[in-house]
Amino acid sequence: MTVLVTGAAGFIGFHTCQRLLARGDRVVGVDNLNPYYDVKLKETRLAKLAEQPGFTFAKADISDRAAMAEVGKANPDVTAIINLAAQAGVRHSLTAPHDYTSANIEGHLVMLELARHSGKCRHFVYASSSSVYGANTKLPFSVEDRVDSPISLYAATKRAGELISHSYSHLFRIPTTGLRFFTVYGPWGRPDMAAYLFASAIVAGKPIKVFNNGDMRRDFTFVDDIVSGVVGVLDNPPVDNGVQPPYHLYNIGNNKSERLMDFIGYVEQALGKKAVYEFEPMQPGDVKETAADISAIQRDVGFAPTTPISVGIPRFIEWYKQYHGL
Ligand SMILES: NC(=O)c1ccc[n+]([C@@H]2O[C@H](COP(=O)([O-])OP(=O)(O)OC[C@H]3O[C@@H](n4cnc5c(N)ncnc54)[C@H](O)[C@@H]3O)[C@@H](O)[C@H]2O)c1
Repeated sequence: MTVLVTGAAGFIGFHTCQRLLARGDRVVGVDNLNPYYDVKLKETRLAKLAEQPGFTFAKADISDRAAMAEVGKANPDVTAIINLAAQAGVRHSLTAPHDYTSANIEGHLVMLELARHSGKCRHFVYASSSSVYGANTKLPFSVEDRVDSPISLYAATKRAGELISHSYSHLFRIPTTGLRFFTVYGPWGRPDMAAYLFASAIVAGKPIKVFNNGDMRRDFTFVDDIVSGVVGVLDNPPVDNGVQPPYHLYNIGNNKSERLMDFIGYVEQALGKKAVYEFEPMQPGDVKETAADISAIQRDVGFAPTTPISVGIPRFIEWYKQYHGL
């Protein structure tokens, strides 16, 4: 099958493309290579994808209707879309709000319109986020919980993407599946996220910022497990029974909430160097704890994460050292 993957030069997009190519799918990658973080890292991921037969790439912004229509026209064999392109990051949404509405709402709509008018899209899979749970305090977070209290614009735009998708599944019977990712880490990871930030600071002998005085927990999820979930749902589109819209929404996490200080401990251990801690208060828009109830995706597609942080972090650090020539 031919799959259009947006955000292909991004962290999760890159790994998703790798997995699809490895099983023989054709992949059309789209990314605007924006400078939110080091563009060289995005280009290096892309160069690895470009080496493989079956991969083609279009540099385009998903909110650009004309450009995306061109991509659609040039690739009439696309039968599934995985929309991972987004402006990510909670903290950046405090300073660059329009980047979020443009990529995560307008861009998401453009991709749904592409699916709608292609007439051939059998499944539209897209990234949402655990941040939609916002101020919720009931743990673990369940897809059955109400999510109408976002505490960041990022979360609000991700929730908007879910709601817009529901309307398209209802109106145009496009099978859509939304995935609420819980803190993803691993090789080729994002420089703005904890594992990478901690590793860089420790290597440079600089203090690491530890928010909420270290009293935080996250459902850290290894990227290979995430990709297994993405591909698992891709192959299981919601069925249209003529009554309910063909719409699924899942949590996808490691099913284990880890203490932030334990996560840092594994980074220190893998690097063989102690961190210098700089304890900071809770950041605006951040949440103290995340934990995913993954029973729905377990039940429907047999999703079963297999990588604890004791295994995943050394794998991340191994890549980090290699990538930075350490
Ligand atoms: N990494 C995580 O822990 C995490 C957690 C929750 C949700 N998510 C979601 O998963 C998806 C992938 O995240 P990631 O960690 O790989 O982030 P990433 O920033 O590495 O990847 C996103 C990619 O999309 C591209 N992009 C951004 N705006 C675009 C636009 N308008 N048009 C075309 N390309 C655009 C970027 O250049 C980037 O390469 C995102 O939707 C993100 O919100 C990630």
